[in-house]
Amino acid sequence: MRPAKSKIRKRAPKRRPARGSSKGSLSFSEYKRSLELATEGMVEILDIEKLIRLIVYMIVKKVKLVHAGILLYDETKKFYVLSTSRGRKGSVIPREYIRIEADDVLIKFFKSRKNYSINKSGVIRLDDLNNLLKRKEIGSKEKNFKLSIIKIRDEMINYDVDALVPGYFQKDNLLGVLFLGRKANRNKFHQDELDFFMALARTAVMAIRNAQLYKNIQKIFFGVIQAMALSIEKFDPDFIRPHMDRMFKMAARLVEKLDKRGVVLPDMPRELFLSSIFLHDIGKQYTPKEILYKEGRLTDEDWVILKKHPVDGAEIFEQIDGLQEVAAIIRYHQERYDGTGYPEGLKGDKIPVGARIASVLDTFDAMTNARPYRKIPFTIKDAVKELIKAKSTQLDPNLVDAFIEVLLEEGILLDVELKEICSDSSIERLFNNLVYR
Ligand SMILES: [Fe+2]
Ligand SMILES: [Fe+2]
Repeated sequence: MRPAKSKIRKRAPKRRPARGSSKGSLSFSEYKRSLELATEGMVEILDIEKLIRLIVYMIVKKVKLVHAGILLYDETKKFYVLSTSRGRKGSVIPREYIRIEADDVLIKFFKSRKNYSINKSGVIRLDDLNNLLKRKEIGSKEKNFKLSIIKIRDEMINYDVDALVPGYFQKDNLLGVLFLGRKANRNKFHQDELDFFMALARTAVMAIRNAQLYKNIQKIFFGVIQAMALSIEKFDPDFIRPHMDRMFKMAARLVEKLDKRGVVLPDMPRELFLSSIFLHDIGKQYTPKEILYKEGRLTDEDWVILKKHPVDGAEIFEQIDGLQEVAAIIRYHQERYDGTGYPEGLKGDKIPVGARIASVLDTFDAMTNARPYRKIPFTIKDAVKELIKAKSTQLDPNLVDAFIEVLLEEGILLDVELKEICSDSSIERLFNNLVYR
């Protein structure tokens, strides 16, 4: 075991062995019950960081420990790292301060289940190690065993840890180790508490494993999104792909703004939500290039074909279970707020919010970049003028306002330009209805 930084920690002063709970502390049965209740919903939490922070927080708070932390196996780096740590100032071990190789004595000790020979619960308690080392029979045991005990004991003292609780998943797979500092009232951990910690570790491992699997599935999904983006890049590297990238960046900023405003957004991972906006035009790969790149006006027949792209794109995702919301954002991104859009003529809030966001950003991006049918883009000021004009007709007025705020914050639109736009009474006559595609 080695610290990631230089060694700094010293063992706390001598403890006073005491029994029973001191004033203000919860008894074992009290904290056991409240921890059990608190852990019931743990499996539902899919954010690993949040989950392990919660586990450590609950233990420190309920058991009233000076500090605690979780050493978790990092599958990419192939070592165990202190992922979360909490406790009193001066006692808490800094996050990532401890890094342990997978072949470290402690890890090997836990993996070979030698910990069960020290305490039947499987928890390694500092007192048990000290008692064992005092006993004569330890000398007759294999030498390596004694050396391991000494090493683990020294590290526990170094990190001011009273108990180490292993978290196994499957037979010999050690997912992590819970570090428990001493109790604030200096009482020792009793045997029934150790049994309880092992049960708690089992629940925590299940929850962490669940969250890790979920994260892996997400990773695979985002890999698929990247693959789809690549297929679009091959099809149209000049217009659609750069347009998608700009949409993603603007969507991230706008969604952040909406979050701060308390706007209720779909209950889906944020990256997935943004990816849906990113992929809004994926169906255009089925639109003939003669239509996409046509410089002049589109014929009625051309429009019929072009208007298929939202449905073509949505159908890709409708095949995948659980991605109906993604499909809906793609399907409805060409709808208009007043119900005159396509493919279904949905109106107002009936249009999914992700599709309404895509519509605002799409309109802005279409105006501010060159298109085959319009070589010279609008200025930012003119484009914003047009957005304001399209409030309540083509676009959701609240989303337009939020987006203009983003443009101001980013310095893309200047305050003085907005003042000029808003005081311009001839705005209605300046622009014809924008038809973007
Ligand atoms: Fe589109
Ligand atoms: Fe678009």
